[in-house]
Amino acid sequence: MQPIKSEFEKVVYEGGFRVLLSQEKIDKRIVELGRQITEDYRGLQPIIIGVLNGAFIFMADLIRRIEIDVEVDFIKISSYGDAKKSSGRVMMLKDINAEITGRHVLLVEDIVDTGLSLEFLHQKFSALKPASLKYVSFLVKPDSVKTNIHIDYVGFEIPSEFVVGYGLDYKQILRNLPAVYIMD
Ligand code: IMP
Ligand code: MG
Repeated sequence: MQPIKSEFEKVVYEGGFRVLLSQEKIDKRIVELGRQITEDYRGLQPIIIGVLNGAFIFMADLIRRIEIDVEVDFIKISSYGDAKKSSGRVMMLKDINAEITGRHVLLVEDIVDTGLSLEFLHQKFSALKPASLKYVSFLVKPDSVKTNIHIDYVGFEIPSEFVVGYGLDYKQILRNLPAVYIMD
């Protein structure tokens, strides 16, 4: 009997998925973002808040390209469940622990699709009166976004297709792909 192939193996070795962003391209862009954030936040010791689960890989790489003191925290929300389309509802599954009133807060998202999650996060965090509140998203789908909230730092603008890898999942798997692939 043949062992069952993992989805990971199918993506990486069978070429069924197209690479949208290579590891090299991602690394290069993160160096640029890190440099920009370093300059913008010098002397401010920001709290960088990652939105779990999707943002954990991007955040880990990004903060290592930031060359000032930063604090980190995480919030966990869910809007998709296991489907490819947003459920239209956002639930908070884990709150931050840090006190952010009067602090400089930079929120790290994996991807902004409709912007519903961002709206939810914006309402929650702006109510806590931080000294400043900015957003960085690894990916943005400009053709899908329905919010006016400004995203201060954008890794890449991508077409409105479902992507996986580099933290982004399909049904909770494929987050560990080192590049970003389009899932047809
Ligand atoms: P939004 O609330 O519609 O902006 O969607 C935000 C969340 O949906 C993201 O943080 C992701 O977890 C998920 N999501 C949106 N598009 C994709 C995708 O192409 N691949 C994987 N997850 C996605
Ligand atoms: Mg997700």
